[in-house]
Amino acid sequence: MPVKNRFAELLPEITAWRRDIHENPELLFDVHRTAGKVAGLLKDFGCDEVVEGIGRTGVVGVIKGRSDRRGRVVGLRADMDALPIIEQTGAAYASKVKGRMHACGHDGHTAMLLGAAKYLAETRNFDGTAVVIFQPAEEGGGGGREMVAEGMMETFGIQEVYGMHNMPGIPVGHFAVRPGAMMAAADQFDLTVTGKGGHAAKPHDCIDTTVVAAHIIVALQTIASRNVDPLKQVVVSVCAIEADTPAYNVIPQVVKMKGTVRTLDPAVQDFVERRVREVAEGTATALGAKAEVNYMRGYPVTMNTPEHTGFAVDVARSVSGNCDAECAPLMGAEDFSYMLNERPGAYIFLGNGDTAMVHHPAYNFDDDAIPFGSSWYAGMVESRMPAA
Ligand code: NI
Repeated sequence: MPVKNRFAELLPEITAWRRDIHENPELLFDVHRTAGKVAGLLKDFGCDEVVEGIGRTGVVGVIKGRSDRRGRVVGLRADMDALPIIEQTGAAYASKVKGRMHACGHDGHTAMLLGAAKYLAETRNFDGTAVVIFQPAEEGGGGGREMVAEGMMETFGIQEVYGMHNMPGIPVGHFAVRPGAMMAAADQFDLTVTGKGGHAAKPHDCIDTTVVAAHIIVALQTIASRNVDPLKQVVVSVCAIEADTPAYNVIPQVVKMKGTVRTLDPAVQDFVERRVREVAEGTATALGAKAEVNYMRGYPVTMNTPEHTGFAVDVARSVSGNCDAECAPLMGAEDFSYMLNERPGAYIFLGNGDTAMVHHPAYNFDDDAIPFGSSWYAGMVESRMPAA
């Protein structure tokens, strides 16, 4: 099962969908045009069922195979939303909306899954049911979480689920995946230090919040360097710091900080959350101030089940012959994690060649990757539910 010949024929059509979506980027849950286009095409393809409005603007298409002897159901997922970035590719199909750009290639993911859906609806060469999932709000809104929370997995009887993301730096036609943690959990924290403001020339009459904040920032670095096993991955970054006065000669009463924590292991995540609180509160107390931590859990770890990662590797290798089955995990995070928390499956990277990294204004999706991506999606259905 190399790249399916049908996708070579469909490439101009899939590319046209991709570029149309690229020209009309939409943010978070506000993907009405994109979702409408997806639903319209799925109906044109002859999907057995097309359901809109799941997780606000998500779309699900159901494609029944030629037979259903084993009651198998495989889910395939793509994301539809863009980013608030000013595009700088200079491409003929560049964004028509100033300040919005498909800089993460979700236009490509959506188009490739549409291509797979068209092929599967034409051929139906499998025993069971394929469910194609198009989610909104991957970029921070938790659209996948909302679709799962609305009972999508149960409603459609999904038994296992597969997702894909393009990745610059990996050659087009190559895949990369790993069993276990593939992407990190991404948490955020707000940290408020309260001391005693006053005249900067009289520090002994104050409790200097900027000095306390500086000590906390340094002390937080010991979580990664001194507290967590060096063989486990963790990132603790303080990314913003703001005093409640812009003056040169005032010690601020309050200093606020913001930061992120990235982990690949739920036990490490629990531990780091506890340590962020202890270190911040304890350091502030030692210096006579008070620290308050508001720790917010974000997307969980994207956890590939080993067995299903093996299936994903087999299909990737049959499509292109090139799949790294033990790639390094990424400390970025993925909303698909909520689907993988509900069902076994895998999330794979598809090479996007030599372009800027995703989320960069010069990032440019390579349409040559489309036949590989569509073939992999379709191949997962045909290999996991072989025709009876
Ligand atoms: Ni993305």
